[in-house]
Amino acid sequence: MKKKNLMVYMVFMVFVSVVAVISGFSQEDITTVQDSAFDIREIMRPSVPFLHDEHNEKAQIEECNVCHHTYNEGKKVEDESSEGMECSACHLTEKNDDPIELVRVYHLQCKGCHEQKNAGPVMCGECHVK
Ligand code: HEC
Ligand code: HEC
Ligand code: HEC
Ligand code: HEC
Repeated sequence: MKKKNLMVYMVFMVFVSVVAVISGFSQEDITTVQDSAFDIREIMRPSVPFLHDEHNEKAQIEECNVCHHTYNEGKKVEDESSEGMECSACHLTEKNDDPIELVRVYHLQCKGCHEQKNAGPVMCGECHVK
């Protein structure tokens, strides 16, 4: 009888920890773009509202690596992605530590697609809303 209770308890605890992992912070919880690279600096502009999953659904973006890309010898790798890594992990390095460069690639990716698709915000104040 005691053994059985222990089993039930253990199964329950495994269940609890699985739920905790699954419901942990993920892209669904993202409401703004807040690259930690900008944390250490004076934030000059309010962080950009970005409801990750909702945005990508509305914009009908199927592939994660449209944004979370990886490159090999200057070429984008089609079937790989880098989600879970911040953009700054690659775009702000010891070799290239200019934050302007990081800002440039964010703008290029976000605004670039909006301009191309003629949808989504392109003005400063539309993304950096107060
Ligand atoms: C339109 C661009 C875009 C697309 C498409 C996209 N993401 Fe993201 N994602 C971002 C941005 C921007 C961030 C936040 C900035 C960062 O962490 O570098 C982010 C953050 C994340 C994070 C990190 C959450 C955390 O804890 O910091 C995960 C995980 C993630 N995305 C997964 C995905 C998956 C899975 C897909 C495909 C189903 C996807 N993303 C598609 C732009 C995108
Ligand atoms: C695993 C590393 C890695 C991650 C993570 C990554 N990138 Fe990149 N990205 C690269 C490499 C490598 C290149 C191509 C070489 C270059 O131009 O720096 C590139 C190129 C780009 C370009 C084209 C640059 C140009 O001058 O044409 C943009 C825009 C860009 N990345 C934006 C982003 C954004 C925004 C994120 C986060 C959502 C991101 N990248 C995440 C490695 C990465
Ligand atoms: C591959 C294309 C693409 C990329 C990359 C992209 N967007 Fe968008 N975005 C769209 C489209 C398309 C819309 C319009 C969706 C609609 O309402 O029909 C949009 C709409 C938006 C909106 C309006 C509100 C909303 O959620 O619909 C915001 C804010 C926004 N994008 C922010 C961003 C930010 C910040 C980034 C970069 C981290 C980004 N987008 C990258 C395609 C893109
Ligand atoms: C499509 C959305 C979009 C538009 C339009 C846009 N930005 Fe950004 N900008 C971003 C994102 C995303 C980041 C990265 C923010 C972060 O991680 O906190 C950023 C970062 C910045 C930063 C550095 C970080 C900070 O908070 O100070 C500056 C400065 C900036 N943008 C200025 C501008 C100016 C000026 C304009 C108009 C010419 C502009 N942006 C238009 C999306 C946009």
